[in-house]
Amino acid sequence: MLLDLDGQGPRHRQVYRALRRAILGGAFPPGSRLPPTRVLAHESGLSRNTILEAFEQLRVEGYLTARTGSGTFVAELLPEATLVVRPDDGRGHRPGDGGSPLPLSTSARRLAELAPRASRLTWSVRRPAAACDFRYGAPSFDDFPMTEWSRIVARRTRRASMRRLSYGPPEGSEELREALSRYLTRSRGVRCDPSRIVITHGTQQAINLVSDVLLDRGDRVAVEEPHYPGFTLPLEARGARLVYVDTDDDGLRVDVLARRAPVRLMCVTPSHQFPGGSLMPLRRRLELLELAERFDAGVLEDDYDSEFRYDGRPVACLQGIDTGGRVLYAGSASKLLFPALRIGWLVIPSNLVDAFVRAKAVADTGTPSLDQLVLADFIAEGHLERHVRRQRVRNARRREVLLDSIDADLGDRAAVHGARAGVHVVLWLPEVAAEHEPAIRRICLDRGVALYSVRSSYRRPPACVGFTVGYASVDESQIRRGVRTLREALVSLDLLR
Ligand SMILES: Cc1ncc(COP(=O)(O)O)c(C=O)c1O
Repeated sequence: MLLDLDGQGPRHRQVYRALRRAILGGAFPPGSRLPPTRVLAHESGLSRNTILEAFEQLRVEGYLTARTGSGTFVAELLPEATLVVRPDDGRGHRPGDGGSPLPLSTSARRLAELAPRASRLTWSVRRPAAACDFRYGAPSFDDFPMTEWSRIVARRTRRASMRRLSYGPPEGSEELREALSRYLTRSRGVRCDPSRIVITHGTQQAINLVSDVLLDRGDRVAVEEPHYPGFTLPLEARGARLVYVDTDDDGLRVDVLARRAPVRLMCVTPSHQFPGGSLMPLRRRLELLELAERFDAGVLEDDYDSEFRYDGRPVACLQGIDTGGRVLYAGSASKLLFPALRIGWLVIPSNLVDAFVRAKAVADTGTPSLDQLVLADFIAEGHLERHVRRQRVRNARRREVLLDSIDADLGDRAAVHGARAGVHVVLWLPEVAAEHEPAIRRICLDRGVALYSVRSSYRRPPACVGFTVGYASVDESQIRRGVRTLREALVSLDLLR
């Protein structure tokens, strides 16, 4: 038998291809024995090593099996048969998925129960936004100083040294931690130095790190009601026992929590309760810290948007008045700049830094360094504070237009909560039963106005209609149109005259 060599490239590759073709073409059927390598070498005028090399490649790829003492055989099951792409089996298994899925962990099963649809866990915009989109969380992308940002990106990329292109410190780049520590002390009254900061992938990773470091399965964690699902879902999935504590106009009801059994961690949004909007006054902040001391608990302070404060100066954070080393302060670039940056920061009591750095290292070995360096320069050169100042003025104007429009179009049929800070308000329609909400949203959406229910932040769904209204990315004329459209929808459903 002469091998049909194609003359391309190294000899052993030619032999490999010739044999593979012969096997697939049926000249050597599955299970048949191949001629000895010595014979093939002699017949083709090639060295035996060349033939052996090709045999070895075919063996590792699964075309051949060698049986000691009896020679080399064509495999009964050729690799092509195992690599066949099966069509979708209609049960959601896509080609290549194989049979039944691997068994899920307890935490993944719990998450599937808590958030049955994956969409509950994605913050991304799935469909094209409506012309007037009151989506919560989107900052104004049009206002972002892209020219400055791109200039820094280009400069940092051009200057990236070999050291920079290797793994960075898991806690984050020194430059960013330095720039942030100055910024946070100045603007938020955070007590920190760079060594106490760990850079995270947004606040979302901060909550995961805090549970890794401070919580065991079954530990009790106090969360606010209403609450931020981005916190409650991962906590519950990891086996924490959530203790929902009501909030009022001053934030979390510390007196209510004080009557419950001790918790290991309290998650709070004291500077702008999410989504309700209240601001925790100093007196209650001190009570909360005292209770943390009594419970021997940590406090996770989520300070996600309080740079935007409209009546008076921003309120100093809880961490700044903590003398007991109990507060873990979480901040994020998501509202200040843009969420896709996925950069946040945790300011940690000094005696916990090592534990957090270890947790961050094993979680992901660190946040992408180039992005961190760009943000460091952006802060150090003053762009962040300039941007925040400008945004505060623009957001204040949008907020005013929103409040005026609600007043003009809905009057005392609407109640607005949480307008003193941040980039959203909660708009309640106290006289309209919650069952009408889907119809109202549908009519508005048909007219190009997207509204979002506040329900997902409530454990016990509210009885009346409530919307979380994000206004930072909606221009003023659209805000007016949006509220008018809501009014029209209510009138058309006979819910307002
Ligand atoms: C209450 C709250 N905390 C934190 C964040 C920021 O999360 P991240 O930094 O993961 O984008 C948000 C953003 O929507 C939020 O609403």
